[in-house]
Amino acid sequence: MSEMMATPEPNGERHGLWSVNTRRDSDGVLTVAGVSVEDIAREFGTPTYVLDEDDMRSRARAWKRAMDEAFADLAGAEVYYAGKAFLSKAVARWMTAEGLHIDTASYGELQTVLAAGVPGSRIGLHGNNKSDEEIALALEKGIAHIVIDSLPEIDQVARLAAQRKMRAPVYVRVTTGVHAGGHDFIQTAHEDQKFGLSVNSGAAQQAIREIAANEHLDLLGLHSHIGSQILATAGFGEAAKVVLDLRTWAAEQGTQIREVDLGGGYGVRYTDDDAVPPAPEEFAGVLAQAVRDHVSKTGLPAPLVSIEPGRSIVAPAMLTLYEVGTIKDVQTDSGPRRYVSVDGGMSDNLRPALYGANYTAALASRNADGELVRSRVVGKHCESGDIVVHNVGLPDSVEAGDLLAVPVTGAYGRSMGSNYNMMCRPGVVAVVDGQAREIVRRETIDDLLALDVG
Ligand code: LLP
Repeated sequence: MSEMMATPEPNGERHGLWSVNTRRDSDGVLTVAGVSVEDIAREFGTPTYVLDEDDMRSRARAWKRAMDEAFADLAGAEVYYAGKAFLSKAVARWMTAEGLHIDTASYGELQTVLAAGVPGSRIGLHGNNKSDEEIALALEKGIAHIVIDSLPEIDQVARLAAQRKMRAPVYVRVTTGVHAGGHDFIQTAHEDQKFGLSVNSGAAQQAIREIAANEHLDLLGLHSHIGSQILATAGFGEAAKVVLDLRTWAAEQGTQIREVDLGGGYGVRYTDDDAVPPAPEEFAGVLAQAVRDHVSKTGLPAPLVSIEPGRSIVAPAMLTLYEVGTIKDVQTDSGPRRYVSVDGGMSDNLRPALYGANYTAALASRNADGELVRSRVVGKHCESGDIVVHNVGLPDSVEAGDLLAVPVTGAYGRSMGSNYNMMCRPGVVAVVDGQAREIVRRETIDDLLALDVG
């Protein structure tokens, strides 16, 4: 990263780092959908996640439109919003209103989506170690599909379906051997990891045979997810081909598989140094081409294709608003560095500490001309790895009480937040058309103490 890089100003562009409705007003205060961050800080406190509702919904719509258009001449497509990136009842309703389905990966995610009034038929369930409770709830609510992730899960789902005198709609999660994406921990399609059933070893084929032979299971689809924060289209095309070849194999065995889910993982820009990711149309085009090739080669009917984007829908729609506290100048081997402490940290964004992820930041409460100082934004936790932004040029005049905004924190920020150091997790404020409202309220110390039963 170039030293002391200034953070780009909000400009309404889709890849400009800030949500499309973020601006700076004539006093230099950042506004989101017409609401100033000063007003948000005054009303809701800091740190706070600020979610641009219209931005998130428009990214969801862009995926839906791209998939519908790319698959119009095939058997159509569905988009599942991956709730693990960030989920709340309001978000579940927005995604449903935009025509998306929702992918859940736990009892809590499933209950949240159901509590929002989303019908089971619009929800999918993942997980490499599902409990009976999770599977039973999914079956009772008429879930669209349960993605089977291991051989023992076949019997588990069949048993729970038999008890309810029903057939469970299932997918098989396949590891294709294709891997792509950011950090090692977020690559999921190579062999030496916990997810899915390998095509190379024959485990996926065994699962297909067992499921097809089980009267309590309806083998609807195949599923592949190759990783996360992927900025190129090639891996998706390769993985699609492996999955579709497996579909051909199944058809040769007499098992027709009607649906294919090609997962999530579409990357976003976090800083000015990151490349602009391909547009949804480009990803959708690569997937549709793989399906077209498969159909023309095999003569099989086209499958219904779904995808599961999370990050690319919500990450750029949210910023985190912090208040600056202690400031400290230190000497390092590479010159002076300013440590700017804020009132949150690794409890509201674990990604820098866990993955070394880079973010950027900007002074949000006023304009500041003049010199930029090489700065590191840090949190208030008892850990030196508690970094919010590794390296950013901030105005020399930044001082305690200023507001600082960190953009692109919508995905895996609140959802991977913690109560480390007994910190209360921030609320999420949704902003639309000049109105701000809390959709997830800030935790209070009473919330935390209520869990502590002595
Ligand atoms: N579908 C499946 C089966 C997944 O495992 C995931 C993400 C997604 C969809 C959504 O992927 P997305 O479009 O959001 O990349 N905590 C990490 C990311 C973990 C992703 C886990 N699975 C991070 O903060 O980078």
